[in-house]
Amino acid sequence: EVWNPNGKYRVVSTKPMPGTRWINLLVDQDCRVEICTQKKTILSVEDIIALIGDKCDGVIGQLTEDWGETLFAALSRAGGKAFSNMAVGYNNVDVNAANKYGVAVGNTPGVLTETTAELAASLSLSAARRIVEADEFMRAGLYDGWLPNLFVGNLLKGQTVGVIGAGRIGSAYARIMVEGFKMNLIYFDLYQSTRLEKFVTAYGEFLKANGEQPVTWKRASSMDEVLREADLISLHPVLDKTTYHLVNKERLAMMKKEAILINCSRGPVVDEVALVEHLKHNPMFRVGLDVFEDEPYMKPGLAEMKNAIVVPHIASASKWTREGMATLAALNVLGKIKGYPVWGDPNH
Ligand code: DGY
Repeated sequence: EVWNPNGKYRVVSTKPMPGTRWINLLVDQDCRVEICTQKKTILSVEDIIALIGDKCDGVIGQLTEDWGETLFAALSRAGGKAFSNMAVGYNNVDVNAANKYGVAVGNTPGVLTETTAELAASLSLSAARRIVEADEFMRAGLYDGWLPNLFVGNLLKGQTVGVIGAGRIGSAYARIMVEGFKMNLIYFDLYQSTRLEKFVTAYGEFLKANGEQPVTWKRASSMDEVLREADLISLHPVLDKTTYHLVNKERLAMMKKEAILINCSRGPVVDEVALVEHLKHNPMFRVGLDVFEDEPYMKPGLAEMKNAIVVPHIASASKWTREGMATLAALNVLGKIKGYPVWGDPNH
């Protein structure tokens, strides 16, 4: 699909993206916009090289693509100076290779913070109250009357939510769980962010002033402390060499038998094989997963686990957010072409 065929700058999007605002932005600034409409969900490096062609000023790409040395070399040969991932995470992008070939890299932080936090909260509630299992039970025609023991789950109020990685998304999630469900908070953040402390302290004061039990918070000195103490744990680190398999067999064993684990960050943060084993042996342990180690696949056994809720990487999938991500990605590429600042450009 081509917009503004005579535009001076050629910008390629490897996928159709929501809305038209991002297209208009580029077209208004003299770009020819080419959108790949191939049916294939995940494009190979060869597919993308063909899209880049001989002349390309910038590319908007997706987290499913492998943006390494080969693609940045191809983009640079085509005269390209800008690449933006339509995602906040950029573990699929080799930033050093981009630097080497003089290509600026952008990402799309901010617009997906609340949307992602809301999905993490939805998975938390669904796991705590066994909503997916109960829904399947109803649809299977198995409900034959109210029973005291039917789908008994956890009350979140008064339990402890553990957050690993308290950046933008982790902090937004913590706020939802603390304020919405009056959970106590324990968190671990490598960068020692203080934004959560201020919020929970003020909220605790507010509850006290209204004669309610105040919530408590604690900044853990290690991740293991969070895993041992929390009833519900949500993972929000970036994926890099240091966070690969951060939650492994040993760490799963540290967690409470009836804990809930949520992952809306990146699949490889959790050792999925170890997780399946843990789920098999601990029926009261529950997980809510938006991401998987080898997307689009799940490790054998996971799909059969009643104590797992699995959704297909949809944490940022609200209309407003996805349009915002597309717009930011377009602005990143346009910015570099036109000489404006680029979000997330490590050289900026
Ligand atoms: C991201 O932005 O990194 C998410 O995984 C997709 O929105």
